[in-house]
Amino acid sequence: MKNITSFSDPIIPYICNGVYPPSDDTYLIIDYFKKNVNENFFDGLPINNIRKILDMGTGTGIIALFLQEIKKNLSKFTTEIIASDISDAAIKCAMLNERINNYKDDITFIKSDLFRKFPPNLQHSFDIIVFNPPYLHSINYKENDPIRRSNDSNWDGGERGFEVFLEFINQVKDFLNSEQKYYIYYISSSSTDLSHLNAELETRGFQNRVLNKKHIFFEDIILNRLEEL
Ligand SMILES: C[S@@+](CC[C@H](N)C(=O)[O-])C[C@H]1O[C@@H](n2cnc3c(N)ncnc32)[C@H](O)[C@@H]1O
Repeated sequence: MKNITSFSDPIIPYICNGVYPPSDDTYLIIDYFKKNVNENFFDGLPINNIRKILDMGTGTGIIALFLQEIKKNLSKFTTEIIASDISDAAIKCAMLNERINNYKDDITFIKSDLFRKFPPNLQHSFDIIVFNPPYLHSINYKENDPIRRSNDSNWDGGERGFEVFLEFINQVKDFLNSEQKYYIYYISSSSTDLSHLNAELETRGFQNRVLNKKHIFFEDIILNRLEEL
């Protein structure tokens, strides 16, 4: 059985101005995939059934590129990889990083505020969606770190820290392939009211499972997986 922990991480030389650099939250996702994807199963889902994966808020493109690396090495993983971001700088940066990693037009990039600019043919199509969203609440992000002020789409999740994510959840059902089991992987922060977030997710028909967490400075960053209730 091929062990994907031995696959090389994407090279990310272009950390472009204003684009979120790969960080602990990014690697919480990548490291989970390293441990839970093999040549037959993507975290328990049959790997040959996964037709489309979305990396929402791709930033430097690192997660999409890591998925592309898995695709290159596992013959049954023939999925189409789509990466999107609200930021022009992020899309340009991710495209540069795609070329540096010797992929050319393998990933489809879409500049869009959540799903607003997605073409209709992507509706009801995604089997897996990954979103490392901005997850700090606006007040924290203003008070804490001057570097964070200029990059608000990277950090500022809204007044309670999860307004951007809940807006994503409001739109996502139209883009999930509900004909088979799907997963949404996302990051949240213990600095926000997680019981409130979980209640909102349940109301919208999702079951949340915590997969991993890491303590950093003032918060735990948490990797979660959503599936249908
Ligand atoms: C925390 S960064 C994660 C970047 C990258 N995925 C990673 O893990 O390193 C959040 C990303 O979400 C993007 N983003 C924020 N709001 C968005 C929105 N409404 N629609 C699409 N992308 C958004 C930001 O521009 C940023 O690139």
